[in-house]
Amino acid sequence: MGKSILVTGGTGTLGSALVPRLRAADDTVAVLSRRPGDGRVVGDLRTRRGVADAVAGVEVIVHCATTGSGQDVTATRNLVELARRVGRPHLVYISIVGIDRIPLAYYRTKLEAERLVIGSGLPWTILRTTQFHDLIAKITSVQRRSPVVAALSGVRFQPISVQDVAERLAELAAAEHAGRVPDMGGPQVRGHEDLTRAYLRAADLRRAVVRLRPPGALFRALRSGANLVPDRAVGRGTFEDFLSGA
Ligand SMILES: NC(=O)c1ccc[n+]([C@@H]2O[C@H](COP(=O)([O-])OP(=O)(O)OC[C@H]3O[C@@H](n4cnc5c(N)ncnc54)[C@H](OP(=O)(O)O)[C@@H]3O)[C@@H](O)[C@H]2O)c1
Repeated sequence: MGKSILVTGGTGTLGSALVPRLRAADDTVAVLSRRPGDGRVVGDLRTRRGVADAVAGVEVIVHCATTGSGQDVTATRNLVELARRVGRPHLVYISIVGIDRIPLAYYRTKLEAERLVIGSGLPWTILRTTQFHDLIAKITSVQRRSPVVAALSGVRFQPISVQDVAERLAELAAAEHAGRVPDMGGPQVRGHEDLTRAYLRAADLRRAVVRLRPPGALFRALRSGANLVPDRAVGRGTFEDFLSGA
């Protein structure tokens, strides 16, 4: 018999890869979403609406929701507070490599959310990964209407497949709480220009690529490789696998 698991963000890019894996493992899985749908519990982590009911009786919470704005701290605080009221579920949190070294507002909220998880008094596990393939592709796809697309000069990424991350999260959700587990990166460290050209090739788009070298601490940190974990290149799916839909 599997566990009773709540997945926040279960409708998102990562969550929708995770939920079927958990269900296949015989877990009872509820997905927290602001919108009603099959297998979902309606709730909003920002306002708390529906969240107390959603966390009641669950053994594990895999927290994948992100508001994409500065609201992730509030959302995580609300989740932790309401979970504590109903018991001691294992809280599994997905985070990002380098959030403590890269000065990006979103990363500051991830770091603060990690601190809330660590200080929650609940059993917890945190996994940090590198950027998902989807995100790297999006940086170029949003520019596809332009005759020239920009790539960051001197910046490398180590993109990872959400399927690989989902597999690891499912493993962590099934196990005992483990604290901060080893970071997880994709199989290849590649320059942004190289990844941009790979995207354009796969999408059959002929575009000039311009290399940008923006000033500032954020890009300095990225150029220093603070977003990479070359010694933890454990993901299997490559960017080309992702682009070909494999
Ligand atoms: N993208 C990357 O490269 C990357 C890399 C490493 C780690 N991560 C982390 O992985 C996690 C998942 O990222 P993703 O790209 O899969 O996210 P995503 O596709 O943007 O999905 C966001 C999810 O959050 C939910 N959500 C948003 N606001 C909410 C609210 N107020 N209450 C409840 N749920 C809310 C959405 O659910 P509804 O819309 O259904 O309500 C949706 O399922 C995030 O924590 C992110 O920081 C991402």
